[in-house]
Amino acid sequence: MARIFSGIQPSGELHIGNYLGAVKNWVTLQHTAESIFCIVDYHAITGSYKPDLLRARRRDMALGLLAAGIDPAVSTLFVQSDVPEHTELAWIFNSVTPLGELERQTQFKDKSQRMESVNAGILTYPILQAADILLYRADRVPVGEDQLQHLELSRVIARRWNAEFARDDDFFPEPQPVLTPTRRIMGLDGQAKMSKSMGNTIGLLESPEEIWSKLRPAVTDPKRIKKTDPGTPEVCNIYHLHKAFSPPATVEHVAVQCSTAGWGCIDCKKVLAESMESELVPIRARAAALRDDTAGVDGALAAGADRCRTLARETMRGVRERMGFD
Ligand code: TRP
Repeated sequence: MARIFSGIQPSGELHIGNYLGAVKNWVTLQHTAESIFCIVDYHAITGSYKPDLLRARRRDMALGLLAAGIDPAVSTLFVQSDVPEHTELAWIFNSVTPLGELERQTQFKDKSQRMESVNAGILTYPILQAADILLYRADRVPVGEDQLQHLELSRVIARRWNAEFARDDDFFPEPQPVLTPTRRIMGLDGQAKMSKSMGNTIGLLESPEEIWSKLRPAVTDPKRIKKTDPGTPEVCNIYHLHKAFSPPATVEHVAVQCSTAGWGCIDCKKVLAESMESELVPIRARAAALRDDTAGVDGALAAGADRCRTLARETMRGVRERMGFD
């Protein structure tokens, strides 16, 4: 059976960009293959951070993932730092990763340009990501487009390691991306990808009032100034959110109303708010139940870590043998 692995940074509360861009797809895929999902807290320390905040964000992320529908009875959810083999394998992969490939990563180039002092973790981040995936010998990795380059590097690493140490049996499979069906979700400013650091998000667990207070002023088609101006749905971020949350018939109706100036943007946003409610109500309810069940959340993570430690130990035994560390 195929094995799926994916990871998410503990950035705190999930927002609808994370949800539509990754997590919703995980929730569907968990029923199609053996699935392992990881809160990658070791990845999160490449930027400056506060230990207490990391603790809180890890917990919030776990709660958000479970509320969104990751079912610990079906898939495995765990925290990366609970399985030390991730960093062990990452060190080993250092020795088969070409420096040039790391320097070519667009995410490295972007981040290092923006930072005053660049730590080595920013550069080697994708090596740890390759270790995450290959430690479980996963064949499929559901991700958004922005991770394709990192995944390509994971395949390079698997190939190089196999060529060096596992010529006979291709010990590590080359992991293939499974792209999220939703295209990348822009923030409410309509300018940048929805992300916590840009402050343009809607939290997955926010109340209907909070959501409306963000949707109401959200940027739409910039050419639509008056209500009587016909709009172009395809250039409007609200329309893209409709595609993610509204039933197909509504999406069609929205497109017609927008392009004929039948509706103003506020009308359109009201319908979106309703569609979002239908999807978010059960998620919010699960989150409320989980907040009262800390032991349940901790228990799911502990069970996940136990299972992953067993799998990780087994992979490392194979790695150590083939590399002469046994
Ligand atoms: N780099 C990924 C991101 O920022 C997170 C991640 C870490 C990941 N390890 C992974 C994703 C392994 C998929 C598989 O979104």
